[in-house]
Amino acid sequence: MIYKNLGNTGLKVSVICLGAMTFTEKGWRSAGKMEFSEIQKVVDYSLDKGINFFDTADIYAYGESEELLGKALGNKKNDVIIATKVRGVMDENDPNNRGLSKHHIFKSIDDSLRRLGRDYIDLYQVHWWDNSTPIEETIEALNDLVREGKVRYIGISDFAGWQITKSVMLQEMKNYSKFVSAQMYYSLLGRDIEFEVVPACEDLGIGILPWSPLAGGFLSGKYSRENPPPTDSRYARMEKPFLRFDFEKAYFIIDEMKKIAEKHNATVSQVALNWLRAKSFVSSIIIGVRNLEQLKDNLGSLDWELTPEEVEYLDQISEPERPYPQWFLDMFASL
Ligand SMILES: NC(=O)c1ccc[n+]([C@@H]2O[C@H](COP(=O)([O-])OP(=O)(O)OC[C@H]3O[C@@H](n4cnc5c(N)ncnc54)[C@H](OP(=O)(O)O)[C@@H]3O)[C@@H](O)[C@H]2O)c1
Repeated sequence: MIYKNLGNTGLKVSVICLGAMTFTEKGWRSAGKMEFSEIQKVVDYSLDKGINFFDTADIYAYGESEELLGKALGNKKNDVIIATKVRGVMDENDPNNRGLSKHHIFKSIDDSLRRLGRDYIDLYQVHWWDNSTPIEETIEALNDLVREGKVRYIGISDFAGWQITKSVMLQEMKNYSKFVSAQMYYSLLGRDIEFEVVPACEDLGIGILPWSPLAGGFLSGKYSRENPPPTDSRYARMEKPFLRFDFEKAYFIIDEMKKIAEKHNATVSQVALNWLRAKSFVSSIIIGVRNLEQLKDNLGSLDWELTPEEVEYLDQISEPERPYPQWFLDMFASL
């Protein structure tokens, strides 16, 4: 296993993090369901291969994902790094059982600790920005949790660049514990974070944790023009229009990835993961699997690397159009 520092912290995390969103599907967006025996095999194999980093969230099946992860880790649960999240709607009928208020954060941390069977959370992440709560209230609540020892590190997820910078500047001014990681959608089919989020994070020393690195399974190469995602597949159920991209461009990129995979006697999924691993700002890639076979395939990416020329070629063919003001700033950067 390869370990990297989580952002600017001294914490070493495996470059592959196992996401627990696919463990179960009650409520919210349906990402799949696994038998517990399969979850156990996946978690045991991950531990055997040196994965020390696991990601879940309170809203994944209203807490069931946290419970299943805690159960599958068993007596190993205190030897690993567990990340979870707060922000989503935990009760449709309760306006306070959601969001980033101090009230909800203080309740949610205790619920997550109980479900995971832990005394503390290694990385507590705010799942996405809350327009109805001042960020000052949120960062004060998170700082309290770190001081109390219920949380070791804090991170964000799905923030805009300006939201990250504003939050961390306020944390610095108030001498609060600072966000150390940013969990964001990033893949060969979704490179939007390169415009605002990545520069903000690099400037602040925040590590990027890409989620849905295979774009929900599309970048495994199992779909093609002739064989598009079937209507009952996870991809068709969950990702459209959740993850948005141009299908024709995606099939072209996958065709090119297949050629690279063949040269390395590898798989398309491994090419997708190794392109992310080649990015210096990535601390750990949060994968999702439905079974042990997929996990073995994805971990096979660690046995080889893309050449710099292959990374450059993939960069080039997946390059998104640069929006304003990026193209303007590029044009006049040297003046
Ligand atoms: N912060 C956020 O907003 C956010 C949002 C989403 C996810 N996440 C995190 O990111 C984690 C990963 O997300 P994700 O599950 O969407 O990741 P992903 O890697 O993009 O998609 C995983 C899916 O792809 C398919 N797959 C995986 N490996 C494969 C392989 N080798 N060959 C063929 N198919 C393969 C499986 O689906 P099928 O077999 O059903 O096709 C699997 O469920 C989640 O568990 C969660 O922790 C965070």
